[in-house]
Amino acid sequence: MTQGMDGWKRTHDLGALRRGDAGVEVTVMGWVQRRRDHGGLIFLDLRDREGVTQVVFYPELSPAAHETAHQIRSEYVVAVRGRVAPRPEGTENPSLPTGAVEVQATEVKILNRAKTPVFPLEDDTDAGEDLRLKYRYLDLRRPGLQRNLRMRHRAASAIRRFFDDHGFIEVETPVLTRSTPEGARDFLVPSRLNAGQFYALPQSPQLFKQLLMVAGFDRYYQIVKCFRDEDLRADRQPEFTQVDVEMSFITPADIQSLMEEMVAAVWREALGVELERPFPRLPYAEAVARYGTDAPDTRFGLELADVTGAVASSDFKVFAQVAASGGRVKGLNAKGAGEALSRKEIDDLTAFVAPFGAKGLAWIRIQPGGEWQSPIAKFLGEEPRRGIVDALAPEPGDILFFVADDIKVVNLSLSRLRLHLARRLGLVPEGRWAFCWVTDFPLLEWDPEEKRHVALHHPFTSPRPEDVGKLADRPLEVLAQAYDLVLNGSEVGGGSIRIHDEAVQRQLFEALAIGSEEAQAKFGFLLEALSFGAPPHGGIAFGLDRLLMFLTGAASIRDVIAFPKTQKGTCLMTEAPSPVDPRQLRELHLRTRGAPES
Ligand code: AMO
Ligand code: AMP
Repeated sequence: MTQGMDGWKRTHDLGALRRGDAGVEVTVMGWVQRRRDHGGLIFLDLRDREGVTQVVFYPELSPAAHETAHQIRSEYVVAVRGRVAPRPEGTENPSLPTGAVEVQATEVKILNRAKTPVFPLEDDTDAGEDLRLKYRYLDLRRPGLQRNLRMRHRAASAIRRFFDDHGFIEVETPVLTRSTPEGARDFLVPSRLNAGQFYALPQSPQLFKQLLMVAGFDRYYQIVKCFRDEDLRADRQPEFTQVDVEMSFITPADIQSLMEEMVAAVWREALGVELERPFPRLPYAEAVARYGTDAPDTRFGLELADVTGAVASSDFKVFAQVAASGGRVKGLNAKGAGEALSRKEIDDLTAFVAPFGAKGLAWIRIQPGGEWQSPIAKFLGEEPRRGIVDALAPEPGDILFFVADDIKVVNLSLSRLRLHLARRLGLVPEGRWAFCWVTDFPLLEWDPEEKRHVALHHPFTSPRPEDVGKLADRPLEVLAQAYDLVLNGSEVGGGSIRIHDEAVQRQLFEALAIGSEEAQAKFGFLLEALSFGAPPHGGIAFGLDRLLMFLTGAASIRDVIAFPKTQKGTCLMTEAPSPVDPRQLRELHLRTRGAPES
């Protein structure tokens, strides 16, 4: 029989008791982490969110309590009355904050029974993630996840405090809305009252926050759920949380320095770490040239160098042909890798870069005597060698790697190889926070599939004023007033100054091949708002989940979200998404095709 709380009142949590509490009468409540039966004595490790306290039942102290303790099993919920006592000498547990004391039980009450947990509720569980997600409420009892969610709370509180202190107003924006283009697919919600029409869940509150600037709110923030139907990765969820910010009458430098302060406040309050500021700025073109990516991990070197000019005239046909046809040849110097990497490992790296489109991976190992060991060395004459030496400064013991292809493939494959080698060679320093602002992004890029220009960020990003004139005939040369915040190679935030001039916004839609009718239909409300006195404005949004991955050291975004989705976008606990009642579909004016009609 389980019992209610009648007459029992908790006096202490299970992380509170210390040696100085000896003699105090307490009432504690929690879950049974472990029960140990030592002949006459029964011990319970009783757990709540604050900690674990040992309870001991002496048969002579209270035969009834001792009798009840016999029935108690793991994860039972119990209440215990008793007296705090120092643990007998030699039995203290210094790894537990409460390890100097125990509660000698005089009364116990079983508040609820529990089935045997389906996996051990400890940090080093070997249970598969699917099982843990199905029983997420048990998984969340584990200390690691408890810590992560409390860290999430601490970070969110620090963020709210910061914005509050700096005159920002938190405003909620709609969840049932229309599509805002952020580059992913929308989640759609059918409308019952408007047959055949759909809401889109927001990919971000972008347009609403801009409209709040038009409305004169000046400084807005929101910790807000966003929804994107995209392929999931270790740092992506279909619903995730942004720290969304917008300000009026500001420059990129204003936003960046204020946001650095915000991030520093979070690191200070959540981790007790003082970040070095200002964060370095890295123009997009330089980031891509040196690291092959716009989200570089700047904790280590291994930078890329372009050797196209040097090898264009070499006898290695691949290099010469790629150079002649407008492609690039870039390389990197894996310093000292000669010792670490076996021939087989070097060969395996070709397979590593293949999924990124690289058709091969040329390499040169610099022997102790300085000679070049390489399948391509014999094709490299004096001039190419000199160019390679200038670009990569090889020394004995180094291995140079090269990819020749179109620039996108070269940068993608070498940037991934760079990260892979850095990990393999132990070049990634632990405990370093390498923040950097990547700036001066191109406004547009060419989408070969859609055969039109698309916005690199979103189509409300302002071009640099001096580039507006190039929008019509040299659109790829236009730089944006956009910036991303990158931490240890991960994009944790991104933003821009927005277009506040209706005419410029129309010009940009034209450059994106969005006709004026389409622009009117999709964004008429924005264009109209811009014509009613929109102030210059800009902002940024941070991925809160990604920041939390760093604050907690979690390897997966799922470990910082209470109820996350799987890689396939499902919730294994509630079994969402699920088929629905045919009547619901009828009311929504929908009929399903492939899926079963339930
Ligand atoms: P952006 O699309 O760059 O910008 O998003 C901002 C930040 O949100 C995080 N993020 C994600 N986190 C987890 N799962 C996802 N699927 C996911 N997608 C994005 C990233 C990213 O840096 N409206 C603009 C911001 C602005 O211009 O102010 C926007 O949404 O950390
Ligand atoms: P092959 O002549 O095709 O046997 O290639 C000789 C070496 O050049 C091998 O190490 C290949 O991996 C490498 N290689 C081939 N194609 C490329 C390329 N596009 N970029 C870089 N290296 C390549």
